[in-house]
Amino acid sequence: MNNQEIVAKVIFDVIKEHLSLAEVQKLLETPKSVDHGDVAFPAFALAKAFRKAPQQIAADLKEQINGEAFEKIEVVGPYLNFFMDKGQVTEKTLKAVIEAGEHFGDSTIGENGNVTIDMSSPNIAKPISMGHLRSTVIGNSIALIMKKIGYNPIRINHLGDWGTQFGKLIVAYKKWGSEEAVRATPITELLRLYVQFHEEAETDKALEDEARAWFKRLEENDEEALRLWQWFREESLKEFNKIYDMLEISFDSLNGEAFYNDKMAEVVTLLEEKHLLKENQGAEIVDLSAYDLNPALIRKSDGATLYITRDLAAAIYRKRTYDFAKSLYIVGNEQSNHFKQLKAVLKELGFDWSDEMVHVPFGLITQGGKKLSTRKGKIVLLEEVLNEAIASANEQITEKNPDLANKDEVAKQVGVGAVVFHDLKNDRLNNFDFNLEEVVRFEGETGPYVQYTYARAMSILRKADFVADAEKSYTLADPESWEVVKLLQKYPETVLQAANNFEPSVIAKHAIKLAQAFNRYYAQTKILVDDNEKEARLALVYALTTLLKEDLRLLGVHAPQEM
Ligand code: ARG
Repeated sequence: MNNQEIVAKVIFDVIKEHLSLAEVQKLLETPKSVDHGDVAFPAFALAKAFRKAPQQIAADLKEQINGEAFEKIEVVGPYLNFFMDKGQVTEKTLKAVIEAGEHFGDSTIGENGNVTIDMSSPNIAKPISMGHLRSTVIGNSIALIMKKIGYNPIRINHLGDWGTQFGKLIVAYKKWGSEEAVRATPITELLRLYVQFHEEAETDKALEDEARAWFKRLEENDEEALRLWQWFREESLKEFNKIYDMLEISFDSLNGEAFYNDKMAEVVTLLEEKHLLKENQGAEIVDLSAYDLNPALIRKSDGATLYITRDLAAAIYRKRTYDFAKSLYIVGNEQSNHFKQLKAVLKELGFDWSDEMVHVPFGLITQGGKKLSTRKGKIVLLEEVLNEAIASANEQITEKNPDLANKDEVAKQVGVGAVVFHDLKNDRLNNFDFNLEEVVRFEGETGPYVQYTYARAMSILRKADFVADAEKSYTLADPESWEVVKLLQKYPETVLQAANNFEPSVIAKHAIKLAQAFNRYYAQTKILVDDNEKEARLALVYALTTLLKEDLRLLGVHAPQEM
């Protein structure tokens, strides 16, 4: 039981006739200042029922309530302020964390149900963008969090490997490209060809028609078109894999848009059977005005299918293949309309499971306040960003700890971890500016700060040769350790909050707060001094390292033992 639950229970016990346990719990507040205790109950909620002044109600309640779990209960105006018995709570919390270890906060809520997570999903022949990085790391963290509460996550990289842009690319390659150039620097060269196509197409209108014709050939499995497409795809994947390897993220499925090429006819048939397809200037659409949405364009006048047609086929395929409990799409906020249309069409088809599909959107990464865009060639090469972050981490470690044994390995964990942590620490819908220097700082609310705090705490435990024992009782009651204990105790609900909102930032913020609380404790307390509380202080440090490491793990970030 957490503090709120303990307080709710003792209040409920004396006012059963008036409020339910859940109602009491809803009313409880966390006081802004520690001087007002750990939990507060506003007695004015009972004024009507009791026909008394709130102050009087608060005073009466105080007399009746079972006070065993508290240091004191104070009446302040209409409020009842509860001060938890720190010793008791600390003892229970440390025992629970030591017993469960990294499994503290695990649950079986998910009942092993499959959760498909559409994540990363970069486009072939283009560099993986900062937006795709966001999707990759947010998706991975959500997968880890869902796993912790008992779901079975399935990471799907819905590669953008189909669409009219491949017609353009084939035309550009045949006109201005060469095999050697593509082999040498695949993505740079393919991007160059793509940009050149758009430049030349501004004056040469015939190019667009040629591109459409080549895409048509591709859709009809023309041998040359297929061979080129396959080759572009392979070369691109090699480049993407470099980044996935650095992030240590892998996928359960790489079925991208092309995979659905032969599965779209069924979608069109289903739509026809339900009389949902309407003709519009030769194209076929589904009217969604009942949903206050623009019509979904399913098939163009030349018969070519679209992004949404492939997503319809993918959604149906995923339901059949995985029978998902939930199906998540970690895709930028700018596609929210697309996902509304997707769900609406599925609903029209009578697929009620579409209610379990969730678009999990996120904001933009800007640089110097400006949006990054591929079209204009303003791209940030992710591999470079990650390598610079590693180099910066390396410099700082060399300064702080020149003799560190596995320095390169640690620098990689810190540099990459810094970029990932920075991405995850803000509410995912917020836009944020990317500034490498800030990301890799060892102070402030950064990944390296959390990792550094963890490493310092680990070195204390090593010095003391501490072995935690769940059978022993460890108690502390000072105000600094109390701040740490409260964060440890809150862990299970923190994990649930992150899972329910698909929000890794809840975990990142918990990690930052925990690290800060520990550093305040460490500044005030001589942990290793030999007195009768030494073991308890070490147990606190031990519990803290356990959950700090688990926080980092849930974000997909390493926790080096030393740095
Ligand atoms: N490839 C797309 C893009 O880069 C993202 C795909 C997202 N997933 C999906 N099922 N539509 O914009």
